[in-house]
Amino acid sequence: MKVIIRKNSAEGSLWTAHYIAAKINEKAAKSDKPFVIGLCTGSTPIETYAELIRMVKAGEVSFKNVISFNMDEYVGLPVEHPESYHSFMHKYLFDHIDEPAENIHILDGNAPDLGAECEAYEKAIAAAGGFDLFLGGIGEDGHIAFNEPFSSLESRTRVVTLTRDTREVNARFFDGDWEKVPAQAMSVGVATVLSAKEVIIIAWGSKKARALKDAIEGPMSHYCTVSGLQAHPAGTIVCDEQAVGELKVNSYRYFKAIEAAESGK
Ligand code: PGA
Repeated sequence: MKVIIRKNSAEGSLWTAHYIAAKINEKAAKSDKPFVIGLCTGSTPIETYAELIRMVKAGEVSFKNVISFNMDEYVGLPVEHPESYHSFMHKYLFDHIDEPAENIHILDGNAPDLGAECEAYEKAIAAAGGFDLFLGGIGEDGHIAFNEPFSSLESRTRVVTLTRDTREVNARFFDGDWEKVPAQAMSVGVATVLSAKEVIIIAWGSKKARALKDAIEGPMSHYCTVSGLQAHPAGTIVCDEQAVGELKVNSYRYFKAIEAAESGK
């Protein structure tokens, strides 16, 4: 696992957007195959998406041959609800880039058969060739996608029940009322995320510090599902100084030294 530590979310987001764009461009230069990416919602990726939009508009990257799959969606929330992840993704990314509409995949939280929708999602990911890169955030409780504590690290796309903690954290988008936050969601599993060739996890602010400590220094455990990244051959956490506030000084120095050595500084 690599940990890239930046001064603040603005710098971390620039690093992330430029890294993703470079990966898309690298594949486009050597293959006609689409670049398959997993995408997340939440406050965390907004600055990264803003920079990707700027890069698309400036002709520095194109999403014409990118296929995306979002990691999760609430169950039962109308698609046009401002807090649905469909609305979020269109507002913060898809309405401003050149990704063809047919390449965009988001779980349908209103599907008549939610189980069948989840199975079809896994099949569609496989049919697209699997993920080149998965971009994720983390919850304050260490969840990756909506894989709450004690979700199996072998989990795949399925319907999940959200914890009271997660609903309280997300209440800020629902008039501050946790009971308005849907109780269920559909989410790719931990194993779905980890099936990607590369996983980039982004985290900003001291609210994520405990989860990052558990993810990086704790044992790989279903208690903190993002800790599954420890077993991934190409996992990177991009974070700001506040988010690593709970790491041991030696862990912090280690990751800084590795990055400096690899970049020749
Ligand atoms: P956030 O959510 O980006 O809004 O902090 C992240 C998550 O819950 O995975």
